Amino acid sequence: MCGIVGYVGRRQAAPILLEGLKKLEYRGYDSAGIAVIEKHSFEVMKRAGSVEGLSAAKNFLGRTGIGHTRWATHGTPTEENAHPHIYGRIALVHNGIIENMKPLKEECLKRGESFTSETDTEIVAHLLDGYYEGDLLAALQKTAARLVGSFALAALSLEEPGKIALARRASPLVVGRGEDGTYLASDIPAIAAEGMEIYALGENEFALLDGKSAHFYAEDGREIEKKPLEYSLEEDVPEKKGFRHFMRKEMSEIPLSIANTQQIIQSYPKIFELREVLCHAEYIHIVACGTAYHSGLCAKIAIEARARIPVEVAVASEYRYRDPVIQRNTVVIAVSQSGETADTLAAAELAKRSGATLLAVTNVRYSSLARLADFVLFTAAGREIAVAATKSFNAQLVLLYALAEELASAKGRGACGAELLSLPLLAKDALAASEEVRAWTPHFLGAKSVFFLGRGADHCAALEGSLKLKEISYLPSEGYPAGELKHGTLALIEKGTPVVAILTSSRLAEKTMNAVHETYARGAKVFLVTSLPEYRKRGEILSSVLIPDIGETYSPVLSVIPLQALAYYVAVARGNDPDKPRNLAKSVTVE
Ligand code: G6P
Repeated sequence: MCGIVGYVGRRQAAPILLEGLKKLEYRGYDSAGIAVIEKHSFEVMKRAGSVEGLSAAKNFLGRTGIGHTRWATHGTPTEENAHPHIYGRIALVHNGIIENMKPLKEECLKRGESFTSETDTEIVAHLLDGYYEGDLLAALQKTAARLVGSFALAALSLEEPGKIALARRASPLVVGRGEDGTYLASDIPAIAAEGMEIYALGENEFALLDGKSAHFYAEDGREIEKKPLEYSLEEDVPEKKGFRHFMRKEMSEIPLSIANTQQIIQSYPKIFELREVLCHAEYIHIVACGTAYHSGLCAKIAIEARARIPVEVAVASEYRYRDPVIQRNTVVIAVSQSGETADTLAAAELAKRSGATLLAVTNVRYSSLARLADFVLFTAAGREIAVAATKSFNAQLVLLYALAEELASAKGRGACGAELLSLPLLAKDALAASEEVRAWTPHFLGAKSVFFLGRGADHCAALEGSLKLKEISYLPSEGYPAGELKHGTLALIEKGTPVVAILTSSRLAEKTMNAVHETYARGAKVFLVTSLPEYRKRGEILSSVLIPDIGETYSPVLSVIPLQALAYYVAVARGNDPDKPRNLAKSVTVE
């Protein structure tokens, strides 16, 4: 795991690998390594920590190499556990998880082999060396047949220095054919360059690369022809543009990301086909993970309110193993910023196999999810580097709200949603108001736990506010339905516990205030994010931020902004790097 890259050709491999790995760090950054073949031996460098630690490897001279940036599953993030794993004549990198590692390891141990790491991947390197009889591809095919789990594997052999063999099951892998050589990576942007032809490996397929060509093979060993993928090069090079962190810079881009995303549905080339599908949609399932799951929860409220279609929102890792009821005319919406999250991809595949129409909402044009879906709506948020999603969340909401309006009009429920057009400007105001939360920071720094409370759409915003705070400040936190607090969780409120209430619905405001009273009465410090100015003066409120009012259904797109800012300021005050929080990855490519 978790991002892999490789090159064989006329150029020195190491700088290409290092460049590719930097672009793959969104898949993990707790350790990294590269191996190149130089004069019939491996030059290897591995480091705990990010790819930056490998900079001295740029002087390796070999022209065939593989690299890896890791998000630890089996084994702590140490140098020993970093990839590539070298055994005998083999060097190997792996994205995925091998589930039958125990019996395979026992088999190797019985043969008297010993291990230097705690990883599942090292076992694969042992198997591969065991099967190797001068033909790397044949050995990899035999090895893959023994593996249970998910993998994108890239292997080198000292006996075939100008070749790289690849295997893929349930983890993405692409191959690029350039002027100067042949490339591989977990995603397209890591290797894409002017004039390069890019191919995607399918499920259970193999490939053999040399400096001039790439050959592809089906599971049964037959050679297969592949068509290059359509893609265009990314223009934007991510820079902090004067901000201290990418997260803060990305928050400043929320208004633009909303404005750009608003254009997407109207200019979608397949809009008529999509409208036809929406017109017949009877059920909607939304599958996603993390922040994208919270977008799904917000979308459910909007779609049910506006189009009166029942919506189920599921965490993708649950949905994929649950045997969900997918009926005729079910539209499954998979939401994923990266389009590479393993659980979301698996849930999307299940939906497709079950006959649902699959609509992807993603921020990455050539992602695995985009390639899988029947319809793809892109959030035009631009590249997001910080692990904690901000502008992509606001963009997902805007897109899903526009979809709610499309569904409403497909169901003859009249055009509405004009207020959405003013969102970019309102988001600017919300951003400016959010600066006030900086003053709240001292109250949160040493908190044992933090609570975010709301009802309806405010509860969805509360969930996202809480996730942001956990991700980057490492403070225990819960987003809770305000009315449910009294059924157990209230026991956790102590003198000084910070509580953030979100209040954007005049219909529900007094009800939410009941929970505020209950926490205040038990010593909580209550902070308020609201679009209803009259509540700012209530005696229980220690401090508040006023955001613009767009009505309760669509309110999370604005109310989340001060919550994102709060998480940012608390994380920075606690000395954390909000762009690269511990233990996390921007996109989790294993289950
Ligand atoms: C990881 C990230 C989260 C993100 C989630 C889903 O857990 O740390 O910030 O929300 O993956 O990612 P996706 O790319 O599918 O939206």
